[in-house]
Amino acid sequence: MNVLMVTSECAPFVKTGGLADVVGALPGALGPMGVDARVMLPCYPALFPLLPKGEEVATFGDLPGGPGRLVQVEAEGITLLLLDAPQLFDRAGKPYNGPDGHDWPDNDKRFASLAQAAARICFDGLPGWKPDVLHAHDWQAALAPVYLKQTGRTVPKTVVTIHNIAFQGRFGAHALGPLGLRADWFHADGLEYWGDVSFLKAGLVYADHVTTVSPTYAREILTPQFGMGLEGVLQARTETLTGILNGIDTGIWDPATDGALPAPYDAKTLKLKARNKAALAERLGLDTAHDGPMFCVISRLTEQKGLDALAEAIPHLVARGGQLAVLGTGEPALEALFQKAATDNPGKVGTYIGYDEGFSHLVQGGADAILIPSRFEPCGLTQLYGLRYGTLPVVARTGGLADTVIDANAAAIAAKCATGFVFDEVSAAGIGAALDRVFEAWENRQLWQQMVRSAMRHPVGWEDSASAYVTLYESLIQ
Ligand code: ADP
Ligand code: GLC
Repeated sequence: MNVLMVTSECAPFVKTGGLADVVGALPGALGPMGVDARVMLPCYPALFPLLPKGEEVATFGDLPGGPGRLVQVEAEGITLLLLDAPQLFDRAGKPYNGPDGHDWPDNDKRFASLAQAAARICFDGLPGWKPDVLHAHDWQAALAPVYLKQTGRTVPKTVVTIHNIAFQGRFGAHALGPLGLRADWFHADGLEYWGDVSFLKAGLVYADHVTTVSPTYAREILTPQFGMGLEGVLQARTETLTGILNGIDTGIWDPATDGALPAPYDAKTLKLKARNKAALAERLGLDTAHDGPMFCVISRLTEQKGLDALAEAIPHLVARGGQLAVLGTGEPALEALFQKAATDNPGKVGTYIGYDEGFSHLVQGGADAILIPSRFEPCGLTQLYGLRYGTLPVVARTGGLADTVIDANAAAIAAKCATGFVFDEVSAAGIGAALDRVFEAWENRQLWQQMVRSAMRHPVGWEDSASAYVTLYESLIQ
């Protein structure tokens, strides 16, 4: 079976968040299950060095954003299909915005071009390869099934995966014509969303199947609290909406072989974790002679992640004898809040503002617990990395966090299966109460060790979820 994945990010090449990790790992997990999955993405500058190693497999004269060509190249075990259109993608800055932080004004044309190129590959195929399933990720790719449907074709079958419904790709109605979308589909049951064109909504309406990245989030987005205005669209298609949990690449995220750790470890050599903790403390200028738990945060600093509430709980965390290591970048107000927390709590709170993949491994390897107080979390990957590294997740009960962490309640402790701490209220008080439970467990060394071992044993790889995708693809093409 052939699957064309369409995405705006793919690790390790281009990453702003978990979407990249998912698209970077899933094809490798699908391969052994008989699926040839290829990943189509824009050729940003970071990918330019791959172009001369690849082969041109298609050209397009007239995408919504002008001409482009498709270059196929193998890299890091993935077959990439790079949409080379320099007028759209040869830009300094990030995938969606320029160095000033503002979205690129032509994002509609940039990602409509990606989607349209994907749709054309679906009818024309590539030399020796034609997709059976088109799998589009998030709003940036969501028009691909729409362009396909506009031609009246029913093959290949199409899937849209929602990684985060907060980002919908909404543009003025004037975009309709230039993007080559059908004017007679511009209505409330089609492309239209409050007078605008919504890429994500369009994909949700016209795809054969919709998935999201955890079973709990699949239920949550049917409600006004989490659906961000698209709950009605989703309620209309609950039969074809599934939640499939993300996995992680357990080869890249393995504490026993992780090159970023001064002292790699496994469940049998847990003592070594202390050396990583010391290295982490040193790197952030924190006290190394400290008995309390080291908490960490590795996150985009945004409203979604509930870190404003966490910042308010820092005095409590420090007063109870904890330390905190923060690695993150995002909203300036949150960056300032955590920088101030570091200044106010020397030796106890350390903040690194920036994006640093290697350092994120050391933080996971060195910390004792990872804090994820998200207001909503479609899946979340950092709690999965935490489980794998024996860094106990302390998470809000929402989305994929609720689906992957087993709370240390009395029953779970008795059954020896607790892997972390789950709390309900994203507020300083709610987080404070969860922290109290963490400190209690920390003081009971036997319980803590047992939880660390249960966490490290918890299956976080892609096997089960990749096979759920295969089952879905098969059911669609039957
Ligand atoms: P989201 O996609 O909403 O940001 P996820 O938990 O799914 O949340 O994925 C976040 C990914 O980005 C993880 O791989 C995490 O380790 C990584 N990450 C987030 N912030 C940073 C940072 N400042 N430096 C390095 N990696 C980061
Ligand atoms: C999104 C979500 C995150 C999820 C990731 C990968 O960025 O915010 O929860 O883990 O996509 O699916």
